[in-house]
Amino acid sequence: MTAEATGTGSSTPSASDGQGEVLVSIEDIKVHFPIKRGIVFDKTIGYVYAVDGVDLEVRRGETYGLVGESGCGKTTLGRGLLKLVEPTGGKVTFDGIDVSTLKGEDLRKMRRRMQMVFQDPLSSLDPRQSVESILVEGMRAHGLDKGKESTRNRLLELLDAVGLPANSLYKYPHEFSGGQRQRIGIARALAVEPDLIVADEPVSALDVSVQAQVINLLEDLQQEFGLTYLVIAHDLAVVRHISDRIGVMYLGSLVEETDADTLYAEPMHPYTKALLSAIPVPDPTVEDTREQILLAGDLPSPANPPSGCRFHTRCPWRQETKCDTERPALREVAGGGHRVACHFAEDIHAGRITPHAVEATVVDPTTGDSGVDVPHAGSVTEVLGG
Ligand SMILES: Nc1ncnc2c1ncn2[C@@H]1O[C@H](COP(=O)(O)OP(=O)(O)OP(=O)(O)O)[C@@H](O)[C@H]1O
Ligand code: SF4
Ligand SMILES: [Mg+2]
Repeated sequence: MTAEATGTGSSTPSASDGQGEVLVSIEDIKVHFPIKRGIVFDKTIGYVYAVDGVDLEVRRGETYGLVGESGCGKTTLGRGLLKLVEPTGGKVTFDGIDVSTLKGEDLRKMRRRMQMVFQDPLSSLDPRQSVESILVEGMRAHGLDKGKESTRNRLLELLDAVGLPANSLYKYPHEFSGGQRQRIGIARALAVEPDLIVADEPVSALDVSVQAQVINLLEDLQQEFGLTYLVIAHDLAVVRHISDRIGVMYLGSLVEETDADTLYAEPMHPYTKALLSAIPVPDPTVEDTREQILLAGDLPSPANPPSGCRFHTRCPWRQETKCDTERPALREVAGGGHRVACHFAEDIHAGRITPHAVEATVVDPTTGDSGVDVPHAGSVTEVLGG
């Protein structure tokens, strides 16, 4: 099987640095969910700003890792990209085709080229369907089930590709282990010969020992079939080895993006610094001396995001000017397309601005007003050794 390399549209070269052809381009995508209340009248009383203006590009053949805390909008961004949820605004271009305007048959055809692998393989596989029926379903929907013999060969090929025995075809999802079920989910995505796979937390429901096997399988399949991946995870350690580039999300926005090595070696956004400082380092000498940043408070509600920089309520580098009034754009601040959404990224990086303690604040869930300080709360920020 080869991934379909030619689209009906023309492919766009990378706008930023010419480091490869862009397969997916997302411009200012927004997904706002209405909050409704009322028994007689279904009144919209607000919105959950799950994804609120994200720009990113995924290049053909690369793995783009998307990370961020639970609830920051990763899954919604993936679903918005695949049009599994209708974006409120913005544009998605796939292989030169504007997906935002596609409808009906054109959208259905496009969907074949963009598949999703879900976090929980048990709930995403119908327990009443055999593996054969699960795999054939997508093929049939896209006209790839062309005859008994060829379909059977294709199914055996798919099982072989994901490392499952041939007799799996006649079994049901509950007869498999978690890792094997995720292999079925991957085979289902592969069955329709996609170009792009959005893998939403593909290993977080699995035992640590099985996680590496599934990650390795994804890497092998990428090589074999020329796939492009958007891998979503809340854990930076999971995407580190598999990703070429990584985007870090916070409260519906992308706050930093660069290649995987640079992100780990030189994180520039305060939020990324905090995320990385939470990952244990195997070397005890380094572990004892390195900077650890514990963030104050919980992620604010996406129904009432803070003004200005969305991270200002928790940022140890927050400044009096700009931070709580102006929303920072994601801009290139270092070579190689290293983009950061922070007004003071250069000053922080050069050490001209140093971190300070931040007290956790309670954000009123109805008004979004912040400012009630909670001194000595359990999650008050400590900047250790910083
Ligand atoms: N269908 C929906 N209707 C209303 N709100 C929603 C809907 N789907 C998601 N949300 C909200 O949008 C926000 C982002 O959710 P999303 O599932 O995208 O986050 P996530 O980063 O994938 O989190 P996790 O790591 O827990 O999977 C959350 O506040 C969530 O409650
Ligand atoms: S803009 Fe201000 S609050 Fe936001 S990350 Fe930068 S320093 Fe922190
Ligand atoms: Mg999610």
